[in-house]
Amino acid sequence: MSDPGGGGGDEYKREESVALLVIVSLAALSLLSLIAAFAYYCYITRKVSRRKQSLYDLPKRSGSPPPPPLRAPPPPQQQQGKESPSSNSASDGAGAVVVAGERGVQVFSYRQLHAATGGFGRAHMVGQGSFGAVYRGVLPDGRKVAVKLMDRPGKQGEEEFEMEVELLSRLRSPYLLGLIGHCSEGGHRLLVYEFMANGGLQEHLYPNRGSFGGISKLDWDTRMRIALQAAKGLEYLHERVNPPVIHRDFKSSNILLDKDFHARVSDFGLAKLGSDRAGGHVSTRVLGTQGYVAPEYALTGHLTTKSDVYSYGVVLLELLTGRVPVDMKRPPGEGVLVNWALPMLTDREKVVRILDPALEGQYSLKDAVQVAAIAAMCVQPEADYRPLMADVVQSLVPLVKNRSAQKACNPNVQASKPLD
Ligand SMILES: Nc1ncnc2c1ncn2[C@@H]1O[C@H](COP(=O)(O)OP(=O)(O)O)[C@@H](O)[C@H]1O
Ligand SMILES: [Mg+2]
Repeated sequence: MSDPGGGGGDEYKREESVALLVIVSLAALSLLSLIAAFAYYCYITRKVSRRKQSLYDLPKRSGSPPPPPLRAPPPPQQQQGKESPSSNSASDGAGAVVVAGERGVQVFSYRQLHAATGGFGRAHMVGQGSFGAVYRGVLPDGRKVAVKLMDRPGKQGEEEFEMEVELLSRLRSPYLLGLIGHCSEGGHRLLVYEFMANGGLQEHLYPNRGSFGGISKLDWDTRMRIALQAAKGLEYLHERVNPPVIHRDFKSSNILLDKDFHARVSDFGLAKLGSDRAGGHVSTRVLGTQGYVAPEYALTGHLTTKSDVYSYGVVLLELLTGRVPVDMKRPPGEGVLVNWALPMLTDREKVVRILDPALEGQYSLKDAVQVAAIAAMCVQPEADYRPLMADVVQSLVPLVKNRSAQKACNPNVQASKPLD
């Protein structure tokens, strides 16, 4: 039926336009909510990526501005274009050119590491350090690892621990002990490293003191190679990463030896871990280890890379003399290695008097005098006059190469393949 007055048609039209208006408003509203949701998504993604980025920065120190992010050194001119951008490989030469690793470290559960180390049994324990016990373990894929079970977990916040792990995992050099993974579960803090079959250098330098009882002392060639490799490890920390990393606890027990007696420097991140604790209580880690600490650092707490150079000099003296840094059982005047050796290090006639008797006949006087001169420069009381680790590396390279061509091997020491 038709509407005689036409009023029904108007009403329909009105209803139609109201419906259209409602539909348009609804569509506009949904578009607006979509835009709002997208904007929020963008905001969250940026926030997350910024948070991730902050993990690559060095940890903040209370009272000081945050340091710039750790950067890998630029590849040297001759290497440019040769390496793929994603390469993690470390090429080596006199300058130890290393690209900081992008590889992440593995996260282990406490159960996994418990299983790998035979339940942290005594039979698996390979050492006891200032942060806790170290256990030998085998991962399900067959890799041998050393698991450091830290016994002071409460002293470091979870976040800071993660940041330290991040720092450790980004420092990659053939002369630094690689971090394989970590576990931070409940109150447990564990670090998983490559296993170094021959343990710490001190166990070989002082065979009667360590667990290596009957093993003979290291020969001259091996000692010089270890000195060079350890110097390259410190050189990397000081001069190849930005900002530089100061080890703070460089000593012979932090030079670990693999099955071929190749050396790697260890615990370069843990020194930081021990120092940034709330309350500012001074721990033994901050002060380093007796006999290795540079005088200016001990007196003023002022720490520079030159403090590490001093500690390196002490280790070089250990390698030369076969003596521990501090031994008060020795005759008067001989208890502190540096004080005893320093006056004789630069005297050609006297140098032979301080050399380890076990090295008899294995070195040329010329080489011994040169190594003694390097040690003397490293341990001098004035920090500014100590050399850079790059200078030490440069001075040692020819000495190691000269000697490795000759045969001056202690038959009791395992032969090692050259790395340098
Ligand atoms: N990666 C490793 N592989 C094999 N043995 C290790 C490893 N790390 C540490 N050790 C052994 O555990 C001992 C203690 O190590 P650590 O906890 O670093 O002591 P410190 O606090 O004196 O540096 C070392 O002297 C060494 O014998
Ligand atoms: Mg150590």
